[in-house]
Amino acid sequence: MMAMILIMVTIVMIKMAGASAPDAETDVKPGADESVLAKRTLSICNQLPPEVTEIPSNISSDTECLEVKQTQIGVIPRGAVHRLQHLRILIISKNEVLESIGAFAVAGLPQITNIFISENAELASIGAFAFSDLPELTEMTITKSKHLRHIHPDAFRNIVKLRVLIISNTGLRMFPDFTKIHSTAPDFLFGLQENSHIERVPVNAFRGLCTQTISEIRLTRNGIKEVASDAFNGTKMHRLRLSGNQQLTHINPNAFVGSSELVVLDISHTALSSLPENILGGLQKLMAESVFRLKELPPLQLFNKLQEVHLTYPSHCCAFHNVHRNRSSWNALLCSHPDAPGMPNFYKDHCSNSTAIICTPTQDEFNPCEDIMSAVPLRILIWIISILALLGNAAVLLVLLGSRCKLTVPRFLMCHLAFSDLCMGIYLVVIATVDIVTRGRYYNHAIDWQTGPGCSAAGFFTVFASELSVFTLTAITLERWYTIKHALRLDRKLRLRHACIVMTAGWIFSSLAALLPTVGVSSYGKVSICLPMDVESLVSQVFVVSLLLLNILAFFCVCGCYLSIYLTVRNPSSAPAHADTSVAQRMAVLIFTDFVCMAPISFFAVSAALKLPLITVSEAKILLVFFYPINSCSNPFLYAFSNRTFRRDFFLLSARFGLFKTRAQIYRAESSTCQQPTWISPKSSHVMLYSLANALSPDGKHEG
Ligand SMILES: *[C@@H]1O[C@H](CO)[C@@H](O)[C@H](O)[C@H]1NC(C)=O
Ligand SMILES: *[C@@H]1O[C@H](CO)[C@@H](O)[C@H](O)[C@H]1NC(C)=O
Ligand SMILES: *[C@@H]1O[C@H](CO)[C@@H](O)[C@H](O)[C@H]1NC(C)=O
Ligand SMILES: *[C@@H]1O[C@H](CO)[C@@H](O)[C@H](O)[C@H]1NC(C)=O
Repeated sequence: MMAMILIMVTIVMIKMAGASAPDAETDVKPGADESVLAKRTLSICNQLPPEVTEIPSNISSDTECLEVKQTQIGVIPRGAVHRLQHLRILIISKNEVLESIGAFAVAGLPQITNIFISENAELASIGAFAFSDLPELTEMTITKSKHLRHIHPDAFRNIVKLRVLIISNTGLRMFPDFTKIHSTAPDFLFGLQENSHIERVPVNAFRGLCTQTISEIRLTRNGIKEVASDAFNGTKMHRLRLSGNQQLTHINPNAFVGSSELVVLDISHTALSSLPENILGGLQKLMAESVFRLKELPPLQLFNKLQEVHLTYPSHCCAFHNVHRNRSSWNALLCSHPDAPGMPNFYKDHCSNSTAIICTPTQDEFNPCEDIMSAVPLRILIWIISILALLGNAAVLLVLLGSRCKLTVPRFLMCHLAFSDLCMGIYLVVIATVDIVTRGRYYNHAIDWQTGPGCSAAGFFTVFASELSVFTLTAITLERWYTIKHALRLDRKLRLRHACIVMTAGWIFSSLAALLPTVGVSSYGKVSICLPMDVESLVSQVFVVSLLLLNILAFFCVCGCYLSIYLTVRNPSSAPAHADTSVAQRMAVLIFTDFVCMAPISFFAVSAALKLPLITVSEAKILLVFFYPINSCSNPFLYAFSNRTFRRDFFLLSARFGLFKTRAQIYRAESSTCQQPTWISPKSSHVMLYSLANALSPDGKHEG
């Protein structure tokens, strides 16, 4: 019980301490709001008649509130209100011809506390010492005067109790001089807002404004492009808001030299590309929403006290994911009491040893906080697989293109298959390389990579490659099926011309499919591995689903063709059993690899495309590395290396470079010519089946 009370007392103490301590959260509300002021002054304020053209000299000197509203006054001259020594509130608003507030216009009034100047459409200048020696003035607002171009550097002087100063919506070109105000008020709120022509915060802009800590400096929605070196020299401030300066590209690295106590910085909606590093150490709260150019965060060690951060890109929050701050342990005794965990709020706020940094926006399921290939085995495997795909397919291409024999349809198709699989290899190498380069700090590179041309190019390569590969595989299978079906009819032989037409269609189709995500139908930038996983819009969804369905269709087409081939060659009962099994085995391997490659990807991809994701992106990456490139890696072996003609071409080509000379001799002796052997006996299914065992690899089918 005692402990309970002790804890309660402590909470109250902490609360009180919190109240007096500067709080990063709460906003200071400016008091000089027109409606508030109007309410306060409604009944007692002395309003000048609308027809007056100058401040009358017979206003009672007892007047405490004067409203110069909608009059015909053109100038407020020197000493115009000097007689009104009891004046507390001065309102100058909606005077359509008022052009200037002259030198010493509102000077030396000992009791004035509020000045509100608003909506004077023609107001163009404010003279020297216009607001000077006003010992009680606490709030001053100058707003909504689009023609106000000039405020004399000496206009504000000796306003020692000034607590709120707002200058907004003016046509000012230069940052006004506030350095002679010399306020000593605590919790100063300074606002210079929506002045679209102020382009620069100059050196020492706030020195002399206030000797105490300024609770907030608001420089929001101006035209500020640059913050000069030493701009905040000699300034103690808690909050600085620079948000909405859309052209602000540069804060001088030394801008904050000589300033102190900054805990909240708001640079949202600016064009900054870096943060001012030397003040980050003290920051507790940082707001940088819609700062699209801020793609890279400074080193995290610089943020010593950060508790809350609001950023533009989800990936940046990953940086703060695992950063915890140690709490002071002065209340260790209380926290160690057995009753303490029974009070969750107290315990959470004061007892947990560390606390996570609040960060928004949180990453979505497409962009988990991890490297591209986070697991080490994955990282190693992707290299092995990509190099295998690259070397294998490059070799196949080299041999096929280097062969001196006449280009046959199967060889032509093989070239395309090898080329598309090579593209897949390139894609994998690109992903693996980017992964290595950004290892451990992917969150800082995610934006550049995923929105940049690299990812689009990689995505283009992989979609193009996989579509062309599937297309070519289907074409190869159809060609075999057709050839075997019509083996006895030479008049219906497929010619290169036909193959060219088919492959042109294949290229056009694959290119289109790969191009669509770069023009807004789905997109490659959604995930770090640059696959078109974006299915937000219906069009994207239709695109992705139909692409997957086409692939599945192609798979069934391949299966059907092999089944048909198998039945055709099996049919004659005289066929030797071993040849039969060999054919069946070979088909099984081809279909199996195709299936293993296609099935998991298609299954999970279709579910994801229908917005019912069964696996996370992290798990999808395993599929990507293990299954997606299976075809690209295995095709060279299944379709080329296992093929006699290909082996012959390979050794003949090597022999040209002085390798495998003896092997080449054997092949040369065997078939000294590229002339296609004719079918020995078209009627003999026996021979045909033998040849088919080879024929299942293209280019082999003409061998006897
Ligand atoms: C001040 O003088 C003007 C004429 O100049 C007169 O109309 C007005 O009533 C006077 N106001 C006061 C408060 O005496
Ligand atoms: C910064 O302010 C100090 C006094 O507060 C002054 O001595 C110094 O010259 C100022 N620095 C610059 C660059 O103006
Ligand atoms: C937090 O405290 C632990 C030990 O209690 C220490 O190892 C760690 O460096 C501290 N972290 C920070 C950010 O001070
Ligand atoms: C905080 O750290 C102390 C030792 O420094 C440890 O005994 C205590 O269990 C920790 N509390 C929590 C909530 O982690």
